[in-house]
Amino acid sequence: MSENWQQCEQIWINARVATMDPQIPGPYGIIEDAAVGVRQGRIQALGPMTQAELERLPGRQIDVQGRWLTPGLIDSHTHLVYGGERSNEFSRRLAGDSYAAIASAGGGILATVAATRALSQQQLTDLARPRLAALCAEGVTTVEIKSGYGLNLPDELKMLRAARALGKELPVRIRTTLLAAHAVPPEYRERPDDYVSLICDELLPQAVAEGLAEALDVFCETIAFTPAQTERLLQAAQAHGLGIKLHAEQLTNSGASALGARYGAWSVDHLEHLDAAGVTALKQAGTVATLLPGAFYFLRETQLPPVALLRAQQVPMALATDLNPGSSPLASLRLMLNMGAVLFGLSPVEALTGVTRHAARALGLGDKLGMLATGYQADMLLWNFEHPDQLTAEVGTFAPQQRIFNGEVCHV
Ligand code: NIG
Ligand code: FE
Repeated sequence: MSENWQQCEQIWINARVATMDPQIPGPYGIIEDAAVGVRQGRIQALGPMTQAELERLPGRQIDVQGRWLTPGLIDSHTHLVYGGERSNEFSRRLAGDSYAAIASAGGGILATVAATRALSQQQLTDLARPRLAALCAEGVTTVEIKSGYGLNLPDELKMLRAARALGKELPVRIRTTLLAAHAVPPEYRERPDDYVSLICDELLPQAVAEGLAEALDVFCETIAFTPAQTERLLQAAQAHGLGIKLHAEQLTNSGASALGARYGAWSVDHLEHLDAAGVTALKQAGTVATLLPGAFYFLRETQLPPVALLRAQQVPMALATDLNPGSSPLASLRLMLNMGAVLFGLSPVEALTGVTRHAARALGLGDKLGMLATGYQADMLLWNFEHPDQLTAEVGTFAPQQRIFNGEVCHV
């Protein structure tokens, strides 16, 4: 019995483990008859174990009797802190209006900005809590939350603080992204470059000084920010050591993905209008392509992201909810697994990899999260399904039996 096992504080035994570790051959990197030992919130030891070895194991043991363990799920793209709601726009779109037309007429993101500015940090946290709890109940253990409905210094920081506060209340890891460049605020309508300067010179440095964001994101789109404005923002992010994420090629192709790749972006997201040159740029940079099937579905988009090209070039693909009031008010990462398969043609293995290993990488956390391996964080889920493909095939039929966060079994 190796020293690693001797040092474990708690050991899950008799498990079938879908490690998602690419070094373990076969789909899902499955290890049968395995034990997973945890110490100080991390995986200390993991591997198959014979009955004789089991009898000599130290520490507290949890016998899971042949059930499955997977990594905790990671939602790597959300806007789940916001005020108000936009079901009126849903009805307008059902009647034929487009997302871009509603946005250009002052609805869309700007409608949520007005509602968000009117609320306190505590009110925003209170409204966001059930959305986050819904994700957690499905097995999510890490969530990225973006700002982007404040669009000025106090309200952007208020959003980031509201997001961070949620991570202190619930057993879930929150990563925050400054998306001040989500829309041009009404006060700057005639001088968007001045707003970009405000972000670069004041908002971003302040968010960094207060430790309120790990990454910067920009909505690079005809209805938002140009590639030139986006590049200025990426330079500022790089100078401040922030990770980079982009909303890219959602409604049109602007070349934002290749731009993000040049700046070493962790991920570029949406990508319905991504072209072959963009795919190659992502491949070369090792940038994750994050697909958001909820927004595709909810906006009744018809242009599909180039999944076959991404697959052929082995670009890592993540899947996320994009949870927000306008284009994806859908608080279910499990639904995204199913939509990623049914709408975009991902295989169940690709889909689960998109909410574990590749999602971790999309948050700059690929060396700590997203798979079950020695040294990784002990964020795990215990399931009683027959086969891991069910995670993608089924929606709402079963929940995790245990949700383990930093090595602790939690009740959310
Ligand atoms: O990811 N595309 C830009 N931002 C969000 C939508 C935000 C909103 O409509 O409120 C998205 O789809
Ligand atoms: Fe988004």
